[in-house]
Amino acid sequence: MRRERLLPYSYNVGNTGSMSDTLKIEQRSQGVVHHDYRRGPGDLLLETIKRMVRNPETRHNLFATYAAMADAIPPHARPNLDLEKTIRFQDRSVPLTLASPIMLAAGGNKHANHLAAYAGMGFGAVSVGSATREAREGNPFRPRMRMFPADRSMSNSMGLNNPGIEAIATEVDKALGKCHRRKMVLGISVADTPGIEEPDAKIAEVLATFRRAYRAADYIELNVSCPNTGENRMDTQEAFLAELLHEIMEARKGLAPKKAVLVKLSPDLSARALDANLQIISDAGVTGLVLFNTFPSDKARYLRMSTPESEIMPVTGSEGKGGLSGRILYKNTLPAVQYIRRQLPKLAIFACGGVDHGSKVLDLLDAGADAVQCYTVIAYRWNAVRKMNRELLEAMRARGIQSLDGYAPTA
Ligand SMILES: Cc1cc2nc3c(=O)[nH]c(=O)nc-3n(C[C@H](O)[C@H](O)[C@H](O)COP(=O)(O)O)c2cc1C
Repeated sequence: MRRERLLPYSYNVGNTGSMSDTLKIEQRSQGVVHHDYRRGPGDLLLETIKRMVRNPETRHNLFATYAAMADAIPPHARPNLDLEKTIRFQDRSVPLTLASPIMLAAGGNKHANHLAAYAGMGFGAVSVGSATREAREGNPFRPRMRMFPADRSMSNSMGLNNPGIEAIATEVDKALGKCHRRKMVLGISVADTPGIEEPDAKIAEVLATFRRAYRAADYIELNVSCPNTGENRMDTQEAFLAELLHEIMEARKGLAPKKAVLVKLSPDLSARALDANLQIISDAGVTGLVLFNTFPSDKARYLRMSTPESEIMPVTGSEGKGGLSGRILYKNTLPAVQYIRRQLPKLAIFACGGVDHGSKVLDLLDAGADAVQCYTVIAYRWNAVRKMNRELLEAMRARGIQSLDGYAPTA
């Protein structure tokens, strides 16, 4: 793996980061364009809904129901835009054919509800979960989500609530055929169960969840970077991460067909820790990366948000656990994708963090991403994914790009 002297990050506040690193990186990320969007009548309706349903977690829980309703209403039932893309993997995992390169990030549908309806919203994939082996209630305190409109961002401290891998995989099994007919694929995000400390037991737990997820889904994400429980940051335990990924990739050798396995990292790793993680991932023969998870809330000061720090922390009862998402992450996402693409030219990359405009999708594809993921934009933009699909198509037309299939960025 080739090393670079300059650091990729807007913030470099992880294990060994320093403020001087941060400054160097900010200089580098000046090329990031935010592609702002105009707010329309739909966004006003969304604001009204937010005033009526004040609890963000309740709104989040209604999202799948909304997806099912919206899908049933013509003329929007099938957005007919030519954004099809087939993702081919260097390790010869089964290719993924998506009607759009925009995927719903993990956490957006934790219960595997109404999965096929997300095709009608414009998604080309849904990363379901994260799933743990058994069902979990998540963190016991409330609220677990807070909105920061000035930054079009939010913090969450859900704590991996989910119905468990068996329930999730069963729903994915049922929905997969219909999703494929609509050119939407389904991944399952696998997380370890908080509370299991003994390393062998932890690996056995993740392997069991992984095996069940693998049977059901088109691709697997390994969530080794959840900041919400205080126990799921395996990307900061390098020796353990290496062992875990080795075991998972060994297990995959005995499973057919070969499906893509991607590791999801945290955006707060220092340059050294990031390089160490990339080396581990490369050595393990993992198919790709999801860049990134939420940014740990207790480091919010490094993001230079418009929302005062006193309002960001603490989320009630969260003891500093939790993650920030949304627009404030984008200034990191783009340069990080560029950097990692140069380091590991053959790995698949799903870019995630602050994607809220179709032109950002094209910029990320240009930077070397194979697809993008988003979630927080849905809380700020009405009909967000259909709009982003249209913006993406306009951005492609403006540059004479006929189709995403076979599009080879020159950047
Ligand atoms: C409420 C909420 C719950 C989330 N749950 C998960 C999760 O269970 N697993 C996971 O890998 N990421 C989870 N995420 C992180 C998202 O998948 C994504 O990485 C992050 O929000 C950045 O993307 P965005 O800026 O488009 O929201 C969650 C994010 C939010 C806002």
